Amino acid sequence: MEVSRMDLYDGIIRGEEKISLVGLGYVGMPIAIAFAERIKVIGFDISEEKITQYKNGIDPTKEVGNRIISETRVEFTSDELKLKEAKFHVVAVPTPLLRVTIHQIWDLLFLQVKLLVGI
Ligand SMILES: NC(=O)c1ccc[n+]([C@@H]2O[C@H](COP(=O)([O-])OP(=O)(O)OC[C@H]3O[C@@H](n4cnc5c(N)ncnc54)[C@H](O)[C@@H]3O)[C@@H](O)[C@H]2O)c1
Repeated sequence: MEVSRMDLYDGIIRGEEKISLVGLGYVGMPIAIAFAERIKVIGFDISEEKITQYKNGIDPTKEVGNRIISETRVEFTSDELKLKEAKFHVVAVPTPLLRVTIHQIWDLLFLQVKLLVGI
């Protein structure tokens, strides 16, 4: 069923809808933590090792510290099917530079995650 942007926004604010953060590194993880103070957040990372650390209250990035990681309500997961529970997705995966010619282009391969989960 098609959901309007305002309905989705209201649902997220009321806690009826979830958002996801895809890529929980130096950028994505602190954003997930900040959103989770007010709304429901699924935190997805392709690295099972990183997700295990987050679930155990360990912050390998040292961006927010272990106490905040252990207290956050972010639902940490490496199961991409879980992303189907969210209707709004924030992507913070690597976009390394490729040198193809004298020009540089960004490698958007990592962004293909959206094709995997159908978002
Ligand atoms: N770190 C910075 O200061 C900074 C500043 C400006 C912009 N950026 C940009 O922000 C983005 C993220 O950078 P970062 O520093 O957080 O990188 P990072 O390497 O710290 O984190 C990226 C995370 O994405 C995960 N990941 C990789 N492929 C994935 C996939 N297919 N699905 C889910 N997770 C996946 C990795 O496991 C990792 O945990 C990049 O595009 C970067 O260019 C970063």
